Amino acid sequence: MQTNVSIVGAGPAGFALAADLQRHGKGVLLYAHPTHLGHANRVRDRGYLKASGALEAWATLRVTSDMGEVVAFSETIILTVPSTGQETVLRELKRFALHRHIIIAVPGNLFSLIADLDVGCIFETNLSPYSCRMEEDGLTVLGRKNLVFIAPLQRGLSAAIYDTVRDIFPVELRWCSSVIEVCLSNVNGVFHPLMMLMNAGRIESTAGDFLLYRDGLTRSVANAMLAVDRVRIQIGQALGLRLKSAVDISNECYGQSFTDLVDLAQNSPPHNRLKAPSSMSNRNISEDVPDLLVCWYSLAEKLGIDATPIKAVIVLVEMATGNDYLGTGRNLRRLQLQDMSLGELIGRFGGEPCDMIASRL
Ligand SMILES: NC(=O)c1ccc[n+]([C@@H]2O[C@H](COP(=O)([O-])OP(=O)(O)OC[C@H]3O[C@@H](n4cnc5c(N)ncnc54)[C@H](OP(=O)(O)O)[C@@H]3O)[C@@H](O)[C@H]2O)c1
Repeated sequence: MQTNVSIVGAGPAGFALAADLQRHGKGVLLYAHPTHLGHANRVRDRGYLKASGALEAWATLRVTSDMGEVVAFSETIILTVPSTGQETVLRELKRFALHRHIIIAVPGNLFSLIADLDVGCIFETNLSPYSCRMEEDGLTVLGRKNLVFIAPLQRGLSAAIYDTVRDIFPVELRWCSSVIEVCLSNVNGVFHPLMMLMNAGRIESTAGDFLLYRDGLTRSVANAMLAVDRVRIQIGQALGLRLKSAVDISNECYGQSFTDLVDLAQNSPPHNRLKAPSSMSNRNISEDVPDLLVCWYSLAEKLGIDATPIKAVIVLVEMATGNDYLGTGRNLRRLQLQDMSLGELIGRFGGEPCDMIASRL
């Protein structure tokens, strides 16, 4: 019998996942929120999706704006909205009984801790499996990862649930001990905000007419990223997690072997052709600062770690944009972790479990 999967979020990442799943024999229904129909309408008008690059496909895909249809179509729902859109779709999802459903947030950015949803279980990944952009003639997939990091919020899930998730994902899964390890493994928090901030003048004076990684990730930018990365790794250590460096995580996900960040920026095909955004109003800031860096910074504070490099980035971004990201982002209060003792935090999110790393797969 065909396995069906619902995908909530009809942007480049959602369409790439839909085309890939369909190619692997899955039935797919995409959801576009009624106020976010841009990409969905263009695909609907053309009648098909053409994907090229690291994923070659012609796909006819069904798109709905009716969450009831999404919930009925499959008991597995994959969210591919940016974390800034997760609360909008949560409001829609909360209208339905979901206690038999599996929700997988791709990427999660600790969606499961803000969800407050009566659902079977929630999994989160660190990254989207695809580096992709919607262009005039269709979807360009610059890179398809070999694996993504994943963990569920809940502990003690059955082997059948792990099998369902493994069967659905078109890439290999690296099981992490908890959703916090997954969030700390979203290396976009290391790459994006600093690359934007340290190239802000160039972005604004050229409307992004340069290659973000190849031209924008130079040695000094890399040095600043390494300072942020060291704090991220220390947070992991304090929780009993052995996190790899950002370049090693990227290497692992893409099956590459770059020696450092500048080498990756110059030579990695999914990265070195990416154009810079045309302005600072971009999710590299609006998603990755409030929903990754603020979360990392709040965890560091709780764990007694000096997180000056992360705070410096957040504060500079706040000064440049006028947003109060420390107050409104995914801080411990929003993640409902503020009243948890250190012991409870480490016990719940620290090393091992994820059901003894999915029973040693
Ligand atoms: N694309 C990539 O290469 C890539 C790589 C790594 C990670 N990711 C991550 O994967 C996720 C999805 O990426 P994407 O490129 O597909 O993102 P996207 O195009 O920015 O957003 C995906 C879809 O969600 C919709 N959306 C945005 N805000 C919403 C809201 N408040 N309520 C409901 N829907 C909303 C978008 O509509 P609009 O078009 O109207 O905004 C779009 O249809 C993001 O978290 C991104 O950081 C993407």
